[in-house]
Amino acid sequence: MTDKTHRRDFIKQASAVTAAASIAPFAIGAPRGRRALETINLGVVGTGGRGTGACNDSLTINDNVRLVAMGNLRADKARDKRDQLREVHGAKVAVEDSRIYGGLEAYEAVIDDPEVDCVLLTTSPGFRPWHIQRAVEAGKHVFAEKPVCLDAAGWHACQAAQAKAEAQGTAIVTGTQYRRQQNYTQAIKHIQDGMIGEPISGTARYCSTGIWYRDREEGMTDAEYQLRNWMHFTWLSGDQICEQAVHNIDVMNWVFGNPESCYAMGGRFTRPVDSEMWDNMSVDYAYPGGKMVSFRCRQVPGTKTDVDNVIYGSEGIAYIKAINGGSRIVDRNGKELYSERGNIGAAYRQEHKDLVDSIVAGKPIVEVDQTADSSLTAAMGRESAYSGMPVTWEFMTEESEQDTFKHGLTLDTPMEPREPAVPGRYPLT
Ligand SMILES: NC(=O)c1ccc[n+]([C@@H]2O[C@H](COP(=O)([O-])OP(=O)(O)OC[C@H]3O[C@@H](n4cnc5c(N)ncnc54)[C@H](O)[C@@H]3O)[C@@H](O)[C@H]2O)c1
Repeated sequence: MTDKTHRRDFIKQASAVTAAASIAPFAIGAPRGRRALETINLGVVGTGGRGTGACNDSLTINDNVRLVAMGNLRADKARDKRDQLREVHGAKVAVEDSRIYGGLEAYEAVIDDPEVDCVLLTTSPGFRPWHIQRAVEAGKHVFAEKPVCLDAAGWHACQAAQAKAEAQGTAIVTGTQYRRQQNYTQAIKHIQDGMIGEPISGTARYCSTGIWYRDREEGMTDAEYQLRNWMHFTWLSGDQICEQAVHNIDVMNWVFGNPESCYAMGGRFTRPVDSEMWDNMSVDYAYPGGKMVSFRCRQVPGTKTDVDNVIYGSEGIAYIKAINGGSRIVDRNGKELYSERGNIGAAYRQEHKDLVDSIVAGKPIVEVDQTADSSLTAAMGRESAYSGMPVTWEFMTEESEQDTFKHGLTLDTPMEPREPAVPGRYPLT
């Protein structure tokens, strides 16, 4: 048996054991029980832009939720966000000072808080699979922002979490809001119903003019700096293709299934010197049945912004535009067959309504496997670009041992930025 086959078998066995063990319900840390709840108590881990946004979305759309606990690297920032949310949502924001937790252990305090039924996991992405795993082990319902993993190890953790959550009856809804955006769901239903004939190929783009960079403040440790400027460190963001463009990749997987392989290239011209990110990547994804998707992402000042998806079929073309750009389907002569406006704000709220409704109904949605597949598809493109080699889905799911997360991290862990990947020298692991 080769090392790789051995590891493959080990991973399968480990997932099976985790799933089987999870059948014994209500084991750990589910103090309010996993019964169908009428009021859901939320706890949030990561109270930055999206964490606060997710709390606001859930509190806005759901009458039967309360926010009861908050965790963040800096507790003072979480307190400020609590006060802002309270101004809008009043008594639904029931977070006492004693339920605001700070530091790298804050996630455990929120997850293990006996009042919390459902945790919103909205830190930088590197933590996500491990926070999901911990929350599911504690028997909590989960909302997990995208991407949900950045490498093979995170993907396996998500698959195991899916199995355990299904077995114990807890929810995991993910922050791929386009799956709940009306102009996306309708356009893709039309595609699935044959409006463009046989879907054959697609283009997916996440090209923009740039992204934030957060300077190192005086006195910060290496870890504090990387956690603050997380976008630029690939163990935390996965690079742009994972952090942002997973949205478009998720749409392509929705239409074509998971890809079989990919071949990619790219580079960097404009990044700050200590950023590990590339600033452009192009990936050809090969899907089952010989279907191809051309993907590009780019963050370069002064360039064209283009964040849209196009699906080409034997009898028509579907344009599905990001944010509020709407959808439009035409036949091969350009005659419009369907069009609809976009409303991303409604989609951000809908994911929280679906999550809460599913818990209340006792039929929890568990969808982290789907988002893990799309997240790994993004990581597959990155690994192909970084290495300069074609990469297969089989390699990513069955052979790769890549685990980029810094397990055992403390705020004093010394760390240097990694040299940006150089194709031909960067190994596939
Ligand atoms: N679905 C969407 O359209 C969408 C939009 C924006 C962001 N996001 C995603 O949301 C996530 C957060 O992005 P953001 O823009 O809010 O980032 P942010 O930098 O504004 O916030 C991240 C917060 O998490 C905290 N944090 C980091 N590590 C932590 C840890 N281990 N424990 C506790 N707190 C921790 C930080 O202190 C910070 O407050 C990312 O995964 C991003 O991709 C999704």
